[in-house]
Amino acid sequence: MTAVAERFTVHHALPPARWPTAEEAARAMLFSPGRIGRRVVTEARTWVPAMVPWRATDDGFVTPEVLGWYARFAEGQPAVLVVEATGIRDIQSGPLLRIGDDRFLPGLRRLVETVRDKSAGRTRLFIQVIDFLAVRRRPEPEKYFARFLEVDAALRRRLAAATADDRWRDAPEAEIRARLAAADRTLVEAVLDARQREALDYGYRERVWDTHLPHVRELPRILPGLFAEAGRRAREAGFDGVELHYAHAYTMASFLSRLNTRDDGYGGSREHRVRLPLEVLAAVRARVGPDYAVGIRYLGDDVIEGGSRVEDAVWFGVRFAGAGADYLSISKGGRFEDARQPKLGEAVYPYTGRSGYECMPTVISDARGPFGRNVPLAAAIRGAIRDAGHDTPVVTSGGIGTFDLAEGVLRRGEADFVGAARQSLADPDWFRKVRLGLGHLVRRCEYTNYCEGLDQRHKQVTCKLWDRVGLDAPGVPLASDGKRRLSAPGWPVP
Ligand SMILES: Cc1cc2nc3c(=O)[nH]c(=O)nc-3n(C[C@H](O)[C@H](O)[C@H](O)COP(=O)(O)O)c2cc1C
Ligand code: SF4
Repeated sequence: MTAVAERFTVHHALPPARWPTAEEAARAMLFSPGRIGRRVVTEARTWVPAMVPWRATDDGFVTPEVLGWYARFAEGQPAVLVVEATGIRDIQSGPLLRIGDDRFLPGLRRLVETVRDKSAGRTRLFIQVIDFLAVRRRPEPEKYFARFLEVDAALRRRLAAATADDRWRDAPEAEIRARLAAADRTLVEAVLDARQREALDYGYRERVWDTHLPHVRELPRILPGLFAEAGRRAREAGFDGVELHYAHAYTMASFLSRLNTRDDGYGGSREHRVRLPLEVLAAVRARVGPDYAVGIRYLGDDVIEGGSRVEDAVWFGVRFAGAGADYLSISKGGRFEDARQPKLGEAVYPYTGRSGYECMPTVISDARGPFGRNVPLAAAIRGAIRDAGHDTPVVTSGGIGTFDLAEGVLRRGEADFVGAARQSLADPDWFRKVRLGLGHLVRRCEYTNYCEGLDQRHKQVTCKLWDRVGLDAPGVPLASDGKRRLSAPGWPVP
């Protein structure tokens, strides 16, 4: 588990930005209309991908702060705005938005109305829907040995062998727990298996291939219905479409991963790994109907040892397009497997290792640098989809924050839409400024991930470029720490 900072030492300056005149922008592909699925027409190719801002209630409801967050993006009138990862289950999951029950509909409707209103109807709004498995905090070792460790025959055998003392094979459980709690690291390593060591050092984490757990074994029976209902609610709330979250560290990405060794027909070969994602897509489609936009966000590369690579992603992309996905949004990495060890009492965060770096690359990088770093994945997937005869649009993102980079991607046919998450957080008006020929006014993202650091601590996400500006202006909503404003200062459009 190597931290990125140990590997990457090249400091990249922001690429020089040449901004187009309003006339040039009017002719640009970036500002030409697009189409998604049968019904969604977009007025440009500009896209704000999902970002979790930690503004929902602890019960997953839309708050005034959630509305404020999306209102501010909507004022910049991106062609497409994707609402953050929103949980499909009706379970407690902290301040993450939820869509797992009809009681969430009124708040979600208000969110849709807010974006329509603030964007003057120019922004198409999708919602990303997610499932995830249990991830527990890293425990105090005493607590782990006293309560969480499972003492079974295998563990007893290993303890007996490591201490050359057969008494441990049938010693009272409490004695075994006490012995291990007092043991040095060498003995702990000899006695705990890999998953137990991980639970001790990182916190317990479920895998989709833990089929000995009944609720994990049942995922293929349960998830299509849950995603389908989430899709139905997205449509009823008035969203223009739903985005199935098949990326990063979560359930569906893990089904797609080469690491998935389930032996029940849902793991192993590519055909089996893509089976549940296709079944979920089919269930959602059946529930929302042929006209409703259903997109998929998934990984062009897992960026972990033994994980899926671009060849898998290309193969999956052709299957998704063939099965009627209305767009494919390509991300990269963001996995738990290579994440840094969390502090005691904290949960492992999937954006701290190399795969996390690739998901949200910063200016401290390798020679390639962060800018447009993930475009080749989207280009490879798009090429294969087109060769297979599908016109499914492909969205790319990752370090794109200038007009030339965005326009170049489109002109070279590497993607059909250009996503900018952090640049849009830094300046929610940036696409609009560029369209108006006012690119010189863009507040440029520095790609140093202050925002991601807040996300990691589950603190309300803001941007360092504006969160201390004008704090005492009347009516400025502040973060719960009282020190930061929650959204970018307004821009009086000239
Ligand atoms: C604070 C924050 C929260 C994010 N939350 C999500 C999310 O909910 N779902 C998702 O698919 N990606 C999420 N991402 C990843 C972004 O959508 C995007 O893929 C990534 O930041 C790279 O694009 P960029 O270089 O334009 O920022 C998040 C990124 C940030 C910075
Ligand atoms: S905090 Fe930093 S990386 Fe995040 S949006 Fe602002 S400038 Fe960009």
